[in-house]
Amino acid sequence: MQAPVVAIKDLKAHEGKSVRVQGWLYARRSGKKLHFLQIRDGTGLVQGVVGLEEAGEAVFQRAAAPGQEASIVATGTVRADARAPGGVELSVTDVSEIGPSTDYPLGKQTHGPDFLLSNRHLWLRSRRPAATLRVRDTVIRAIRDYLHREGFVCVDAPIFTPNACEGTTTLFEVPYFEDQKAYLTQSGQLYMEAAAMALGKVYCLGPAFRAERSKTRKHLTEFWMLEPEMAFAGLEDVMQVIEALLCEIVRRVLAENRADLQALERDVSKLEQVVPPFPRVTYDEAAALLKQKSGFVYGGDFGAPDEEALAAGHSKPLMIHRWPHEVKAFYMRRDPANEKLALGVDVIAPDGYGEIVGGGERATDLLFLERQIEAHKLPKEAFEWYLDLRRYGSVPHGGFGMGIERTVAWLCGLPHVREAIPFPRMLYRIYP
Ligand code: 4AD
Ligand code: MG
Repeated sequence: MQAPVVAIKDLKAHEGKSVRVQGWLYARRSGKKLHFLQIRDGTGLVQGVVGLEEAGEAVFQRAAAPGQEASIVATGTVRADARAPGGVELSVTDVSEIGPSTDYPLGKQTHGPDFLLSNRHLWLRSRRPAATLRVRDTVIRAIRDYLHREGFVCVDAPIFTPNACEGTTTLFEVPYFEDQKAYLTQSGQLYMEAAAMALGKVYCLGPAFRAERSKTRKHLTEFWMLEPEMAFAGLEDVMQVIEALLCEIVRRVLAENRADLQALERDVSKLEQVVPPFPRVTYDEAAALLKQKSGFVYGGDFGAPDEEALAAGHSKPLMIHRWPHEVKAFYMRRDPANEKLALGVDVIAPDGYGEIVGGGERATDLLFLERQIEAHKLPKEAFEWYLDLRRYGSVPHGGFGMGIERTVAWLCGLPHVREAIPFPRMLYRIYP
């Protein structure tokens, strides 16, 4: 009878038993009488020890053949080994190659970022990218679990849209629909506002597209965004949900991805400090602080150095609320206490990761929104459906957008958001 196939992460429970491990050869060290095979299967890494005497001549020879990243099946006995990563190693009794691999492009030497990105389809097999993808998976599960528990309904937003949501400068036009301008979505928000009027609390989680001409470590052309939206909610409620959700995401990643964070050399003590309450400042307070530090001029959006200066000294994300309306989108409600301010909030992550969340309270007044659409030079026809939401039972409501890649980049301590998405799309990158 053949030994059962066991995932590497589960080997510990099979100590003393004979099992089969199927995966890829990560690396090999060989001596005259011993091969050490580092085998990975996506769930973990285990060392297979092939002894000439124990395994016999034929098996020993076969173990010498597979190249780096060849796929193999190894049969062996699970042995406890306190020094090994998973606490076990495999005394190999048989090994066979499934698919060969010669001259694997990602060898032991260090590669530049461009080379790695051009080989992203193979790079994903390496430790850091694999660990990052597992953290990303936890982030998305934590989001869905949390919002489901809180009574939010997942409503998928369309990808093709007839209107801009976040300004016309970053729109991707799609020449396909007859007699109609069409674009790739910048944000599902406007559709979530419609859905919130139907279902109360809703969210979408999907791709968004921005024709950003900027080449920074925070911008992707295609990124994933979470967008919750709540009926009968104001700016305070929005900030409360952002805080609770971010804390829950961090808690889950710390609980489920310790080994991954270790592989990424992330200082987890910093993440452990991410608990409520988060510091909150108004734009005015933040601007005054920056004016002292760097001569910032009131009224503009914060650039990367400003965000970094504001986040300095905070171990938790910083919430900045009530912005000059000129720097914010057309749909934001004005502060009744000061008509110059929009009831928006940005959340700045610690350690220079910048804005990870943007949101706020939405304007509910029909006339105000009509004037805004005009002032922002947006085509009113494309927004008639949106204005209907103010014609038929308008209520105070609000929500936010959380960038998945920026959040993952922060949690994992990555140097660039492109490492937080499996296959990044940027101004100069669409392959693979
Ligand atoms: O601040 P943004 O543009 O807000 C909106 O799109 C709102 N409609 C969201 C809402 O209220 N429902 O984008 C929200 C977040 C940013 O804070 C950032 O994390 C991320 O999306 N983001 C990007 N991430 C990667 N690359 C880009 N080019 C991004 N643009 C925005
Ligand atoms: Mg923003």
